[in-house]
Amino acid sequence: MDMEQQNNQHQPLRFLVFSASLRNDSLNTRLAKLAALAVEKNGGKVDFANMSEFDCPSFNQDLETKGVFPDGAKEFRKRLLANNAFIISSPEYNGSMPGFLKNAVDWVSRVRPQPFNERHALLMSASPSMAGGNRALWSLRIPFEHLGARVFPDMFSMAMAHKAFTPEGNIADETLAKRFEDNLVAFMNLVEAATHYPCIKKAWVEFLGERSDPVTERVE
Ligand SMILES: Cc1cc2nc3c(=O)[nH]c(=O)nc-3n(C[C@H](O)[C@H](O)[C@H](O)COP(=O)(O)O)c2cc1C
Repeated sequence: MDMEQQNNQHQPLRFLVFSASLRNDSLNTRLAKLAALAVEKNGGKVDFANMSEFDCPSFNQDLETKGVFPDGAKEFRKRLLANNAFIISSPEYNGSMPGFLKNAVDWVSRVRPQPFNERHALLMSASPSMAGGNRALWSLRIPFEHLGARVFPDMFSMAMAHKAFTPEGNIADETLAKRFEDNLVAFMNLVEAATHYPCIKKAWVEFLGERSDPVTERVE
């Protein structure tokens, strides 16, 4: 184990938690704040952000050629690199992700090394609709997976979000509140395993006790 890995073992995992809404009274900001509390309760360290910090002018390759790289993209990149993983709570606009979020992702994707690559991500949404903005999350998977992000299989979409919170900002329904926290904890466990226990890749093969055998060997 090198020095960096040893140091990592004693540091809490860091999560960038951000609400991808520019609206003041955003339902997604409420959900992101709950996610931040759940991460801290379960031993993680939170770096909280709002979309206004990462918002960028429309991507234009001519600007890029002139050496322009917007402050919002610089900040987004910096915060991605400073954390072990990121959690987004995104609104759904017309069955997809908000344009300003995709725009910020496009700007950041131009940097090398490309910051989304191999970074773990958890996707959430909140909407007054019955589907909770879930289609925005499926659409978000496409650019993130294209960029090599490890997007967690389980996602959380809060339906009827305008009625789902208590006055204190918690999820009113107990079953849903438990599912929300369980989902986050499962994500945190995966990030922990990937960050601190990369040896698991080797241990997995050994545990199965596999032996090289031409009959069972996978043919490429
Ligand atoms: C342009 C626009 C399109 C929208 N399209 C959808 C949609 O397709 N599905 C949905 O569930 N809600 C849709 N909504 C409603 C948003 O989910 C709702 O405004 C939500 O509160 C936005 O998230 P926020 O509160 O975090 O800002 C749309 C809202 C806007 C402004």
